[in-house]
Amino acid sequence: MKFSAFPRRTAAAAAIALAGLLASAAPAATAAPAAPAAPTSALAAPDIPLANVKAHLTQLQSIATANGGNRAHGRAGYKASLDHVKAKLDAAGFTTAIQQFTSSGATGYNLIADWPGGDANQIVMAGAHLDSVSSGAGINDNGSGSAGVLETALAVSRAQLQPTKHLRFAWWGAEELGLVGSKYYVNNLPAAERSKISGYLNFDMIGSPNPGYFVYDDDPAIEKVLKDYFAGLGVATEIETEGDGRSDHASFKNVGIPVGGLFTGAGRTKTAAQVQKWGGTAGQAFDRCYHSSCDTTANINDTALDRNSDALAHAVWTLSTGTTVPPGEAYESTTDVAIPDNGAAVTSTVTVTGRTGNAPATLSVGVDIRHTWRGDLVVDLVAPDGSAYRLKNSSSNDSADNVVATYTVNASSEPANGAWKLRVQDVAAQDTGYINSWKLTF
Ligand code: TRP
Ligand code: ZN
Ligand code: CA
Repeated sequence: MKFSAFPRRTAAAAAIALAGLLASAAPAATAAPAAPAAPTSALAAPDIPLANVKAHLTQLQSIATANGGNRAHGRAGYKASLDHVKAKLDAAGFTTAIQQFTSSGATGYNLIADWPGGDANQIVMAGAHLDSVSSGAGINDNGSGSAGVLETALAVSRAQLQPTKHLRFAWWGAEELGLVGSKYYVNNLPAAERSKISGYLNFDMIGSPNPGYFVYDDDPAIEKVLKDYFAGLGVATEIETEGDGRSDHASFKNVGIPVGGLFTGAGRTKTAAQVQKWGGTAGQAFDRCYHSSCDTTANINDTALDRNSDALAHAVWTLSTGTTVPPGEAYESTTDVAIPDNGAAVTSTVTVTGRTGNAPATLSVGVDIRHTWRGDLVVDLVAPDGSAYRLKNSSSNDSADNVVATYTVNASSEPANGAWKLRVQDVAAQDTGYINSWKLTF
């Protein structure tokens, strides 16, 4: 989170969020609004057993060996890989679907696995491409990501996880032909379905033999979850720069879905400075077997595969089991806005940045309007896209003063980021007032 990017977020609100408290951040002179819904913190992910991830790689290697040495699009080894992964997921209780497409005259396949439950309007996705190039078995590229995502999905099943958000896992076909499978998936998702995806996490090459620890520099909230995991291990990370847009996350990013991911390096050379951080061999590629026949089970660094698989699970757990946003975080405007008597509507804006996905179904809107006759007032919350949520109607017999209240709005179809407005109109002559402050608590 870049807290400095929230100019309207008051020091009081920040202090309260930092203290993990949920008391009102409204000025002391006002009645305290009702407390927002209590936050739930994210559940801790299990350790992902390296032996299990490596067992998946051994299986993918066997499949390649039995099918002409590769698992490439249009070859028997690809479909055999897909069927293998699908069988494991089906046995673990996932709802799986194969999506077919055609590329370069051959049939390709994506595998989509949904874990039943969670908020269908807020989907956390993790995926990896399952195809290899035709020159080899593709065990680091991308058996590693495929196995890490598979073992994380199986861990979700072992834990019988009940995430807040809906979890979906994906294995893409024909990435090596130009992100073909993931593009096909995204292009065939109706806009309404796309907007339900809170984030897509991509794992392509996470066990490189001379590894670096690279985190995609995309959605800040996803990036932070991944970086924090490595920081907790005491492992330095760098931002991924070996080709933004060179893997399936680009298909999602291109349609505005928040993305993130991990990468341990491909053909680029490891520098001396990177060897200082991570060990390994300077002047040598992160993966000397990238896109070649030696990309076998021997082409894996176990430590890198282990750490990245654990980070993957950590991100899946954290992003799917926590609250929609960090608990109790409030965005407030304390700028007074005069409300003209029997006049045009006025607005006050609160800007939300750096979040992932949509606002919650229980968005709390704390309103503090000072007015001499509250029955004159019509109050709406206006989402960044302009959709309005009525908080209060005018009423000729609502004769009290002031509107000091907390409203709960189902804003789960609205992306959290953007300029939210409180819109207030005074529709009857004589009494007057002003917006004193208002705040959104996620
Ligand atoms: N599959 C990718 C490719 O063949 C590997 C890759 C290269 C990559 N650079 C990347 C993956 C950067 C993620 C991020 O091009
Ligand atoms: Zn790849
Ligand atoms: Ca009035």
